[in-house]
Amino acid sequence: MSEKKASNQMWGGRFASGPAAIMEAINASIGFDRKLFAQDIEGSLAHARMLADSGIISAADQEKIAHGLNTILREIEAGEFQFSTRLEDIHMNVEARLSDLIGPAAGRLHTARSRNDQVAVDFRLWVKRELARTAEALKALIGALLDKAGEHAATVMPGFTHLQAAQPVTFGHHCMAYVEMFGRDLWRVRDAIQRMDESPLGAAALAGTSFPIDRTQTARALGFREPTRNSIDSVSDRDYALEFLAVGSIAATHLSRLAEEIVIWSTPQFGFVRLSDSFSTGSSIMPQKKNPDAAELVRAKTGRINGHLIGLLTVMKGLPLSYSKDMQEDKEAVFDAAETLDLMIAAMTGMVSDMQINAQAMKKAAGAGYSTATDLADWLVRVTGLPFRDAHHVTGRAVALAESRNVGLERLSLEDLQSLDPKITADVFSVLTPRNSVNSRTSFGGTAPSEVKRQIRYWRKRLKSA
Ligand code: ARG
Repeated sequence: MSEKKASNQMWGGRFASGPAAIMEAINASIGFDRKLFAQDIEGSLAHARMLADSGIISAADQEKIAHGLNTILREIEAGEFQFSTRLEDIHMNVEARLSDLIGPAAGRLHTARSRNDQVAVDFRLWVKRELARTAEALKALIGALLDKAGEHAATVMPGFTHLQAAQPVTFGHHCMAYVEMFGRDLWRVRDAIQRMDESPLGAAALAGTSFPIDRTQTARALGFREPTRNSIDSVSDRDYALEFLAVGSIAATHLSRLAEEIVIWSTPQFGFVRLSDSFSTGSSIMPQKKNPDAAELVRAKTGRINGHLIGLLTVMKGLPLSYSKDMQEDKEAVFDAAETLDLMIAAMTGMVSDMQINAQAMKKAAGAGYSTATDLADWLVRVTGLPFRDAHHVTGRAVALAESRNVGLERLSLEDLQSLDPKITADVFSVLTPRNSVNSRTSFGGTAPSEVKRQIRYWRKRLKSA
């Protein structure tokens, strides 16, 4: 056995025909970039039409090319297309088939173009459309949250800091906090779409072309606002893909927090919500259990999206301009993140719409833990003119007294309270229940039901033009 053969056995085992097969396997992207087939054909149709309109190819060739490309589109959609790894990627697979179908005219399609601007335009189109879908999905989720918030604008629950009961809020207000977060995600999506709305087609390999092409025509035909302004940048950057992943990571992070709260709320210990059977599962061994699997998976899948963001940032980091093959690694991350995010938003929308709220349990918990202590202190400041720091001290003593009697603040007698500060009157009881506490928080953006309803009206209106 020669040296060479022995070392080949070390690393070539899986690859029947040696180094060439390994090269093909690492180089080919057709296994995943076939997802871009519709954008690739659309880009080629627009390019060929522009070449003919600019007198660079004949009208007859353009017609043949268009006819051939439309045939290929149908073949791929019908699952009849033979993808070949030898042809590397979607661009060469389509072009080779075009040559089979229409002969030499196929060779004119790649005039004034390179795979570098071709892949850039295909992928931008794909990401841009995916973001438009994400925007619609977010709108549906926000709609579901607005419905829940509307039903529960006055449903009292404990508000938390450090996951310790802090002050009473309404469930509607809590839902509206997520509306604000997902609303910002929606604007981030819209902003990102605006930024990527430029066509790189016509940048060619990296330097532009000597052919008299019309980049504005192809940009418009493909639904872009305008052509990109620098041919090197056009084939070099993937910041639109990074932005998709960044926006997706933030949205996923928001989703994971709501998911975690649903997990907590649906425990028997909290019992704030009951998930529908469609979004929970039973245990195969413990008959009493109902597990919030969908929420747990939303929480977990966030890790995948965040991971894809870091992955692509790392691929792009330190790359010299312009195109390098490294950039072929942009696609799987984005495709997987897109599919994952779609599923996460859909699952969350379903869970939010279907979940049953246990207002009784929320109210009971809202009253526990002296959650209206701040209301007592505020009352002392407002009515007796005590400085807040002193009021805080008096309230602390009231809590200690209530604790020693094992009752809530509202169950202390007026005499008890007056022993702490003689200026206290019976009016104090108007702020000591959780219900009165939330009703009193009418500051803009506060938790009073009237304010929650105002914000719901605002968002319903805003969403119409989103
Ligand atoms: N499959 C390649 C990619 O996704 C297409 C561009 C190839 N360009 C090149 N110069 N090899 O990046």
